[in-house]
Amino acid sequence: MSRRVRRRLNVRNVSDQHLADVEEKRKRVSLNIDTNMFKIGFLGGGKMAQALAKGFIRAGLSKGEMILASCLPNDVSSIESFKEIGSKTVFSNTDVVDYGDILILSVKPQVVPRILPEIKNSNKLLLSIAMGISISTLEKGLPEGTPVIRVMPNTPALVGCGATVFSRGKHAGDKEAEVAEKLFSSVGICEEVSENMIDPVTALAGSGPAYVYMMIEALADGAVKMGLMRDLAYKLAAQTVLGAGTMVRQTNIHPGQLKDDVASPAGSTITAIHHLEKHGLRSAVIGAVEAATLRCKEFSSPSETKQ
Ligand SMILES: NC(=O)c1ccc[n+]([C@@H]2O[C@H](COP(=O)([O-])OP(=O)(O)OC[C@H]3O[C@@H](n4cnc5c(N)ncnc54)[C@H](OP(=O)(O)O)[C@@H]3O)[C@@H](O)[C@H]2O)c1
Repeated sequence: MSRRVRRRLNVRNVSDQHLADVEEKRKRVSLNIDTNMFKIGFLGGGKMAQALAKGFIRAGLSKGEMILASCLPNDVSSIESFKEIGSKTVFSNTDVVDYGDILILSVKPQVVPRILPEIKNSNKLLLSIAMGISISTLEKGLPEGTPVIRVMPNTPALVGCGATVFSRGKHAGDKEAEVAEKLFSSVGICEEVSENMIDPVTALAGSGPAYVYMMIEALADGAVKMGLMRDLAYKLAAQTVLGAGTMVRQTNIHPGQLKDDVASPAGSTITAIHHLEKHGLRSAVIGAVEAATLRCKEFSSPSETKQ
């Protein structure tokens, strides 16, 4: 126990020390997790697991040597990627279950039914990022009482700009929710939502980066068509998207108002806006989020997860 904690708890003798130890333990989450430095096991070491592992390490919430990931033997690039951050990989999911204080289920959704039997003896906190796999499906495959949290992150977590939501299962309390929030806030923003909001969030924030990359590409193509160098066009397009997003987040001004502020009477911006409206930009984007949500719901149906 640190001197600071001793002082705070006014430790004077052995029995005081014992009480202080109990108090210190109580402050940890119910599963006895060190909430300052997490020992994490990734079940599936693909793109998202790598992005999160790097983000958690960068945020100082874990260390390379405190992360273990399971990979398939032929997945050389994932194995190499974990090696680069100082983490070990194994070919066995049960080894990961034995190792981690927190388990992150990060295989493709269709692989989850195969993985669940391999982790069925764990009662450790399970954070699942598998798209479309419901909390109840996970809870049914795990011992009664296992705390489960369903998380939906997105890939910008890799650069500390993730947009994550989570929903807790029936055995996940405030402490477990705090763990999820702490981890995922370290790689961007993180909000708790009810589970029925996870599909629309997946369609917005999970898939959203793809829509925005298309927008960046199209903006740059437009500028290249009008004579700009391609490198500069991508740089300016990406910075414009970053700047507009930052304006919305930091000023809290409605995006419609910010748009109006840029569109001067008879100017070039309002002319461009008219062009976008004629070609249904808003309707296309609304429809994309709707279509992606419906596709997520198809994934969530039991027949899909049995594949
Ligand atoms: N990418 C995103 O933007 C995003 C966003 C939110 C949530 N998610 C969710 O995150 C999860 C992972 O997505 P991802 O994009 O990271 O996919 P991914 O790159 O394909 O990662 C999945 C990893 O699991 C490995 N794997 C397959 N079977 C396994 C097994 N039996 N045991 C251990 N590992 C196994 C795969 O190996 P092989 O490649 O060799 O098969 C792959 O490395 C998915 O459930 C997805 O829905 C993804």
